Amino acid sequence: MYREAGKTRFQLDLRRHLRSQSICDNLIHLICEIAEASKYVINAVRTGDLGVAGTSNLYGEEQLALDVLSDRILRKRLIHSGVVCNIASEEMDVVYQAQAEGPGLYSVAYDPLDGSSLVDVNLSIGTIISIYKGCDIFQEGRKQVAALYILYGPRVSMVYSVGNGVHEFTMNSLMEYTLSRENIFMEPAGDIHAPGGLRKKYTRGTENFVSYLEGKGSKLRYSGGFVPDINQVLMKGKGIFLYPALKDAPKGKLRLLFELNPMAFLIEHAGGSASNGKIPILDVKPECLDHREPVYIGCSEDVQKAVEFLALEADT
Ligand code: AHG
Ligand code: MN
Ligand code: MN
Repeated sequence: MYREAGKTRFQLDLRRHLRSQSICDNLIHLICEIAEASKYVINAVRTGDLGVAGTSNLYGEEQLALDVLSDRILRKRLIHSGVVCNIASEEMDVVYQAQAEGPGLYSVAYDPLDGSSLVDVNLSIGTIISIYKGCDIFQEGRKQVAALYILYGPRVSMVYSVGNGVHEFTMNSLMEYTLSRENIFMEPAGDIHAPGGLRKKYTRGTENFVSYLEGKGSKLRYSGGFVPDINQVLMKGKGIFLYPALKDAPKGKLRLLFELNPMAFLIEHAGGSASNGKIPILDVKPECLDHREPVYIGCSEDVQKAVEFLALEADT
């Protein structure tokens, strides 16, 4: 569910919408800089080299040239914004200090290109951004001051929240982001589910939860890209995404700092929930850059049901 931006507001561009959110100018500047950087990422995705970079990231995953290029585009933009203290990227092994601690600065954690392995089969991918006040990048997700993603799909869209509603902007022919959906809100329960990971590796609680979803007629919608899969759940307002604990990966696959915290911030501000199966994702204390957590994220009643099924498993 969402309130379609009325005709007059359709032309509202990102900067003016941000100014209506009563946030400080440095944060407005930072989000606009990220929006600008996304245009260079789009160009790289559309025309760039699909090959491997010959390096690997902190997770031992082979980096594609696009991962490295997108990371460089965003990092340079953040450094030159003048309002960023620390930077953490899914593609970097360490936290990068852009400038020393000072008033009015922010720290940014980002996944420069999520789903990059899908580019060569022309599926949708995205950039995920998490923003904190000050220089501590290891704060709980609930302390984010902003989160956003850019979805490079048939259309390019940006979804952001600074804690005052969740809003979607769509890129027009002039590569400007204009308001397309305002105050997006989710239903309590849904009818689609995006189950990540191999089903044969699911624990009993997750297996029973997915069977419950299928039993109530929920349809499987999974692209393998976190950003489009979450965007579908959010825009339809009726679904759940899960990348659960697996028998051989009890912490699942997705990264707390770069993927889960920003998406959990957006989904919660749209009336949904995000849990690691026990506690809200936004309350998990990040321990390290490559901190992973299982995730159940989407309609609040569906997430609660998942937690109940997992608790039942824990009791047996
Ligand atoms: P990334 O490309 O940044 O490494 O992220 C890929 C993630 C995420 O996009 C998606 O939800 C998940 O990997 C898919 O994993 P599986 O291929 O195991 O389904
Ligand atoms: Mn990712
Ligand atoms: Mn990535």
